[in-house]
Amino acid sequence: MPLKLADNISLTIHDLAFGGEGVGRVDDFVVFVPFVIVGETVEVEITEVKKNFARAKLLRVVTPSPERVAPECRYFTQCGGCQYQHIEYGAQLRFKHKQIADLFERVGKIPRDVVASVIPCPSPYGYRNRIMIRSQWNGPAKKLEIGYIRADNNFVVDIEECKIAEPALNAQIKGVRANPPPKGGLKVVLRVQPENWDVPESSFFQNNFFLLPKLVGTVRDFLKAGGAKHLVDLYCGVGFFGIETADMVESFVGVESDQLAIKAARKNAAARNIQNGEFIAAQVEEILPELMQRWGGISGEPVLADDQPGARERPPRQSNIAVILDPPRKGCWPETLQLLRETKPAQVIYVSCHPATMARDLNILCADGVFKLARVQPLDMFPQTQHVECVADLRAGQNLAKPPLMNSN
Ligand SMILES: C[S@@+](CC[C@H](N)C(=O)[O-])C[C@H]1O[C@@H](n2cnc3c(N)ncnc32)[C@H](O)[C@@H]1O
Repeated sequence: MPLKLADNISLTIHDLAFGGEGVGRVDDFVVFVPFVIVGETVEVEITEVKKNFARAKLLRVVTPSPERVAPECRYFTQCGGCQYQHIEYGAQLRFKHKQIADLFERVGKIPRDVVASVIPCPSPYGYRNRIMIRSQWNGPAKKLEIGYIRADNNFVVDIEECKIAEPALNAQIKGVRANPPPKGGLKVVLRVQPENWDVPESSFFQNNFFLLPKLVGTVRDFLKAGGAKHLVDLYCGVGFFGIETADMVESFVGVESDQLAIKAARKNAAARNIQNGEFIAAQVEEILPELMQRWGGISGEPVLADDQPGARERPPRQSNIAVILDPPRKGCWPETLQLLRETKPAQVIYVSCHPATMARDLNILCADGVFKLARVQPLDMFPQTQHVECVADLRAGQNLAKPPLMNSN
């Protein structure tokens, strides 16, 4: 191992890994450094040495990248919320695209050319409609910190404003700071309610209103290209995708474990006079077998990959069902994926804000050619941060008409 703690060394950055850290090398030994850009030469201090890699703190940028820009936020590098404010926005999109293509190739064995370029957010700052503010008593400083978790440890960094949050939330931060509990321990979610959607206080809604039209547009384009007549919207929240695509299908059903969200989903559908859908409060993994049976998915036949003997002679499965999966960050239960492999709906549209678990699940769905991946469309729902939303279009069997590429302007 060529390095030890507190060494000061010079590094050239070769890549930006998922999570946002730059990758440099000393004699093939990997060193991760935050807040750098590919191509830069930097001076760093080694802060952690493991068997196969080290971590370092950025001391000085010796040769800055032409894509380096001034961050808008005065807390950037202390606050753990943002990783990319020092990178010009167009370059952020390019780096995120490469990270997703690399990850999907490695974990999901997915060819790079199915990953479309990342759709940008029209508002790269001031976009977040939901944030969590914490408070913590700082004993040594005898001071209450009110803000976000720090970048380098689990303490709270005191903030007066957040540049990626909507202006209305910054006004709310002032209110929280004006009335904190004396010794800390406060955790408060601040949010801007979406117009025309009923969303209970603790229920999920998409975090970035500015990119919602493109997110819905992507799902609609995929659904149209797949041509299914019936939709199963799993992990449906307050009914967002089912309601936004209700006009494209004869019928749909939404499933969600949050009972209050399901009540809201029914209200959201009724407010739009949508009558071709139903919403069920249930755990997806528990209700899916019954649902797929009811909707005609299960035939009892074993699933054969297209290139397995016997697969070609069998009449093509006339499944008219598309399934939307929009699970929490941990992804889908293995039983759910297995059932989808067995019932083989014509199309699965997988929406996720966690590409690593998504790649794992796509790998399972696509094993032995049971599903084929037509396209992955990333959307930058979380500018300035390491996070990115992806929508994947999977087709069963021969149903592989590709969706059109979205115009990303
Ligand atoms: C990422 S959100 C998606 C919500 C919705 N599709 C939308 O776009 O607003 C994931 C949702 O899955 C729900 N959920 C988590 N685990 C679940 C489970 N096992 N069964 C059903 N719903 C679940 C959560 O309550 C949350 O509303």
